[in-house]
Amino acid sequence: MPYKLLFVCLGNICRSPAAENIMNYLLDKENLNGQIVCDSAGTGGYHIGSPPDQRMAIAAASKLGIKLRGSARQLQKSDLEDFDLILAMDRENYQDILVLDRHGKYYEKVQLMCDYCSQHTVEEVPDPYYGGTQGFNYVIDILLDACTGLLQEVK
Ligand code: 4NP
Repeated sequence: MPYKLLFVCLGNICRSPAAENIMNYLLDKENLNGQIVCDSAGTGGYHIGSPPDQRMAIAAASKLGIKLRGSARQLQKSDLEDFDLILAMDRENYQDILVLDRHGKYYEKVQLMCDYCSQHTVEEVPDPYYGGTQGFNYVIDILLDACTGLLQEVK
C-alpha cells in the first residue's frame, strides 16, 4: 500500500495543486512515485472541476519546468480516513480541515505545510490569488522547500 499525501488549500486551483505537482516531480526524480502518492483538495467548493490557475501554471513552468495537472475538488470527510498525512497551506485551511474531524480522531494526520520548510521561515503558504506574478513565484519557492523537507520525512 502506498503512503498517501493530501495537500489542501482553499480553492484547490493555486497552492495545493502546485504542492501536489511539485511533490510528484520530486518523487519522479527519486523513483518513489509508486510508494508515495499525492492528491490535493480545497476546503471551498467555488472552483470544483477547474484546472490549476494559469498564473500558478506559468510560475511552475518557468521556475521548475513542470506542468500542473489536476481538476479542483472539494475536501470531504472521507479524505481524513483515506490519507496518511494531510498538509494544510495556511492556518485557516488547517482549522477548516479539523472542522470535519469532530471527534479529533485524525488530529495527528493534519499538519501545516510550512512546518517542513528549512530555507523559509514563514508559517503559512500565502494565498496568491488576488496578487501579482511575484506572489505565485514566491509560492513555488516555499512549496519546493516544504516538499523537499516533507520527502525526507516520509521516505
Ligand atoms: P488557492 O487560491 O486556495 O491556493 O487555490 C485561491 C483560489 C481561489 C480563491 C481564493 C484562493 N477564491 O477566492 O476564489
